[in-house]
Amino acid sequence: MVDLKNPKRKLLIVLFCICAITIIIFSYSSTSSLQLAIRQSNKPVSKALCACRQCISVEDEDPWFRKHFNASISPLLSQKNAMLSNDTFKWWQKLGTKGNKANYRNVVKKLFQVFPSKEHYKDSAPNRCRTCAVVGNSGNLNGSDYGALIDSNDFIIRMNRAPILGYEKDVGNRTTHRISYPGSIRHLQNDTHLILLPFKTETLQWITKALTTGSMKSAPLPEMAQINADKVLIYNPTFLKYVYDVWLECHGKYPSTGFLTLMFAIHICDEVNVFGFGAAKDGTWQHYWEKNKFTRTKPTGVHAGDYESIVMKLLACKRKIKLFEGR
Ligand SMILES: *[C@@H]1O[C@H](CO)[C@@H](O)[C@H](O)[C@H]1NC(C)=O
Ligand SMILES: *[C@@H]1O[C@H](CO)[C@@H](O)[C@H](O)[C@H]1NC(C)=O
Ligand SMILES: *[C@@H]1O[C@H](CO)[C@@H](O)[C@H](O)[C@H]1NC(C)=O
Ligand SMILES: *[C@@H]1O[C@H](CO)[C@@H](O)[C@H](O)[C@H]1NC(C)=O
Ligand SMILES: *[C@@H]1O[C@H](CO)[C@@H](O)[C@H](O)[C@H]1NC(C)=O
Repeated sequence: MVDLKNPKRKLLIVLFCICAITIIIFSYSSTSSLQLAIRQSNKPVSKALCACRQCISVEDEDPWFRKHFNASISPLLSQKNAMLSNDTFKWWQKLGTKGNKANYRNVVKKLFQVFPSKEHYKDSAPNRCRTCAVVGNSGNLNGSDYGALIDSNDFIIRMNRAPILGYEKDVGNRTTHRISYPGSIRHLQNDTHLILLPFKTETLQWITKALTTGSMKSAPLPEMAQINADKVLIYNPTFLKYVYDVWLECHGKYPSTGFLTLMFAIHICDEVNVFGFGAAKDGTWQHYWEKNKFTRTKPTGVHAGDYESIVMKLLACKRKIKLFEGR
């Protein structure tokens, strides 16, 4: 008989089940590199490179993780990394709906006259333990009671329009970072970092203009007033392409905001706790704040939702992140 009272053994069984499920899912798909990754995931974990209980970076790294994770590509744009390779520029330009007529070099030059160009979060060290909560928008947060757990993280990263007012019990009451693109920026607190997702040169032009001349087209006025130039960070297009090429192996057209947020977190945090991703337990897809307004039957369209979800589960299976699936 298996002794289910032993908490360690219980945990192992749960982990084994998760890995087994992942393998079953994957035996139905043709993606061999992920299949291989699962087979290689049983190696013992060795010395941690941070001060948390469970670190993302460890010595004697898992081969799949090592093959994908690249700490040398900065998630955020700075003056130093702003010049894009021709390949990256071409790919990135195609994501924007309108043509990129603006001259990228000039736009970036102006941008860093408005924003301080700092290298952010490159302070990984054996004595650092930075915990992060990535909070998605899924209806599975409704009734989850995760609020206090989410708030206990150092960084709390939310996306686009997700509100907290009235939902604190389930989603927490702090937001240190909010990832968004122009037009979807909402609910900024005065101490919240806005991480702007640029899908074209014009986005960089827009934020520069908005903060210097107060031109606020395509974002509601009250929200723009809350943007603090010192708190604005810009997602690096080179990092965006790295996520697409390396982590998603070019599945979909480009990564979803949720996946980009998760990738941002695993590159700047030592411990990542993930909330509010996937469907609710009853299989429905909706935002936690929208009653009976179903967003879709399944993630589809320009994003490779299934592939993203499997990469995320694999990260959890390898104990790089912790998934909280709500109810
Ligand atoms: C990480 O990215 C840099 C810059 O693109 C590249 O030169 C390097 O080879 C990459 N490292 C790995 C391990 O893939
Ligand atoms: C990149 O593109 C520019 C302009 O199209 C060209 O002048 C330059 O030689 C290219 N660089 C490389 C490394 O291909
Ligand atoms: C936020 O929630 C925590 C509990 O998670 C509570 O202690 C704190 O008072 C709340 N802060 C505000 C400003 O509501
Ligand atoms: C931010 O807002 C809070 C409450 O609304 C206020 O107490 C605080 O002084 C503000 N901080 C700054 C830097 O504006
Ligand atoms: C959240 O769950 C409660 C109880 O199940 C339900 O009454 C409520 O309508 C739900 N809210 C949303 C926004 O779905």
